[in-house]
Amino acid sequence: MTPALFAPLALRDLTLRNRIGVSPMCMYACHDETGTVTDWHVVHYGQFALGGAGLVITEATAVSPEGRVTPQDAGLWDDAHVDAWRRVTDAVHRAGGRIAVQLAHAGRKGGKYAGLPDEPAEHRGSVPLDRGGWATRGVTGEAFGHYAPPVPMGPEEVPGLVAAFAHAARRAVAAGFDAVEIHAAHGYLLHELLSPVTNPEGSDREAPLREVVRAVRAEAPAGFPVIVRLSVDDVAEGGLTAEDSAGLARRLVSDGADLIDCSSGGLVWGAEYAPAPGYQVPGAARVRREGVPVAAVGLIADPDHAEALVAGGEADLVLLGREMLRDPHWARRAESALAGAATIEPRYHRAYL
Ligand SMILES: Cc1cc2nc3c(=O)[nH]c(=O)nc-3n(C[C@H](O)[C@H](O)[C@H](O)COP(=O)(O)O)c2cc1C
Repeated sequence: MTPALFAPLALRDLTLRNRIGVSPMCMYACHDETGTVTDWHVVHYGQFALGGAGLVITEATAVSPEGRVTPQDAGLWDDAHVDAWRRVTDAVHRAGGRIAVQLAHAGRKGGKYAGLPDEPAEHRGSVPLDRGGWATRGVTGEAFGHYAPPVPMGPEEVPGLVAAFAHAARRAVAAGFDAVEIHAAHGYLLHELLSPVTNPEGSDREAPLREVVRAVRAEAPAGFPVIVRLSVDDVAEGGLTAEDSAGLARRLVSDGADLIDCSSGGLVWGAEYAPAPGYQVPGAARVRREGVPVAAVGLIADPDHAEALVAGGEADLVLLGREMLRDPHWARRAESALAGAATIEPRYHRAYL
């Protein structure tokens, strides 16, 4: 019998070959700082498709230059980005995978150094304006931890933000992506607008995200799925809980979203987490009880665990982040473990005899 993890998943006209996805992960690898992806990204994303994942979700990809996390982020704010992304989507498709782009505006969490191990030690925190940094935008002027304080945005700027997401979605379709994911988690701008912790004065805090979803939906073909990543629980006092997010998820589906990717936290500096395998699954399961399709993510690395989440009705899709970086062929390994044979890439079958 086919394991539940290897049953296809249909989202509108898109059918994924299994329920395994690569979680979005910033790579900060656009070294010319123009947001243009390179051969490195073709190899990086292609490897997961060859490894059998049903869906690859890209790193946070900026909808505007000031929406980048670092100067080296990928972008889709310009038509000039489309051709480079097309090489990535072609590579994933040729390896039998499907790919969604995560569209993001980092808000007050942007404009920082990547802080990777190969960077100089003094490259920590916000990039100074005279070294290629920029004035970030926030809902209020309050800084995130030790980052540079953002310039507060007024309500009159929301339509421009909505339009930036919609235009990036149009480019995503042109670049050959199979779906888009709207990043409304981890304290990025859409999440900052959504939460009472970071937007205490907001009168209709859900409005900007719902407008983005409707605008992206309007820009995409009817059969093209729209995914939304939420921090289902803010992990902050007075913040959104899974109960709040379950209601929001239902409204987002009525606006045109097809799946909610259920993450948590990232909103306030120094929030306490209790990371254990599947720590965010209860949030996903709560949203799913509303009848909303969900992705679960967070320290899921064991094939039996992933199988149990799908078979037990806690998630429709399972996303793996760090484990995929360690083993891009995790899906094949999982299929071998659960079904006794790996069938995804026939050219590799001798490795599994
Ligand atoms: C290197 C790295 C980069 C990440 N970048 C993003 C990102 O661009 N967008 C996002 O929504 N989450 C990002 N995350 C969070 C992951 O998508 C994922 O939710 C988290 O790592 C938990 O899953 P895991 O335990 O399987 O790694 C990142 C995580 C890592 C480790």
